[in-house]
Amino acid sequence: MQAAPLVDGFGRVHDNLRIGVTDRCNIRCFYCMPETGVEFVERREILSFEEIERFARIAVGLGITKLRVTGGEPLVRRGLPVLIRRLAAIPGVRDLALTTNGVLLEALAGPLYEAGLRRLNVHLDTLDRGRFRQIARRDDLDKVLAGLEAARRLGYTTIKLNVVAVKNLIEPDIVLLARFGRERGFEVRYIEFMPLDAQNLWDRGKVLLADEIIAILSREIAPLQPVPDPDPRAPATEYAFADGIGKVGFIASISRPFCGNCNRLRLTADGKLRYCLFALEEDDVKAPLRSGASDEDIAALIRSNVARKWAGHEINSSKFVAPPRAMNAIGG
Ligand code: 5AD
Ligand code: SF4
Repeated sequence: MQAAPLVDGFGRVHDNLRIGVTDRCNIRCFYCMPETGVEFVERREILSFEEIERFARIAVGLGITKLRVTGGEPLVRRGLPVLIRRLAAIPGVRDLALTTNGVLLEALAGPLYEAGLRRLNVHLDTLDRGRFRQIARRDDLDKVLAGLEAARRLGYTTIKLNVVAVKNLIEPDIVLLARFGRERGFEVRYIEFMPLDAQNLWDRGKVLLADEIIAILSREIAPLQPVPDPDPRAPATEYAFADGIGKVGFIASISRPFCGNCNRLRLTADGKLRYCLFALEEDDVKAPLRSGASDEDIAALIRSNVARKWAGHEINSSKFVAPPRAMNAIGG
């Protein structure tokens, strides 16, 4: 018998689980991690593939159908294709995707594809080497580009580029990235800079808003027209260029909050369940997983987490409190 769906107190049905597989990263984007002095979780505190798979199976039994593997940077987790194969094999998983910074993608795109992965989001803010170094504090642009090219040749069904939209920084890249995507069949998604940076650099004035980007792209490339949304609960709103070549998406967390449609839960690499990117509370699932909890116990834990979910973040109000974890430890 199919279990009752995961519905929260606001009637939102949850069918999407994001799984962080590590809090480590091989680059240091300033809006996500500090440059130095990051303390990573110890290896034994990180869930094993067996634990992740078990949790995912239980969640799928409760109506989760979409899984996204994230980090930190997921490709630094050794043996990741093994986990991808196991997740892809769970009956009931209809969609499996991976978010990566692309630095290690050239070597891993093939093994991941073989393991069953077909959807990739690759983080890329700029095509300029100097600006890449300024943002990521590493000189790895060429590796990311080689990784993207490898993935494109393999024939992944969807490759999206994630661009974090920071004002007075990425303006020169907006149009170049959109053109790059149009030429290669990648959908570029501009994500409004969110207060998750661990160093409290964020303020509203540093966010490049979706409407500003839409105006620039419409002027410089071709008018943008909203695309009817196949999944109204997905955070990105999509637009197509009027000349028929390519699409772009906007994750406008600040200017158009989408919490009312949220269908997402997050499992962190160290085994904490979070009902929101910005949640101030979380439930430990690692201890139960390691101390003989039954599948029913874990399912009850998931239900109780969803039941406590709040209406949404309050970035636009004075009540907002940034979460105690930085983005790399939450998993985007
Ligand atoms: N604001 C918005 N997006 C962010 N990301 C990381 N940090 C931030 C932030 N402070 C994005 C990156 C990454 C995805 C998981 O989240 O693009 O690819
Ligand atoms: Fe690493 Fe991703 Fe954070 Fe960049 S955004 S530092 S790639 S975890």
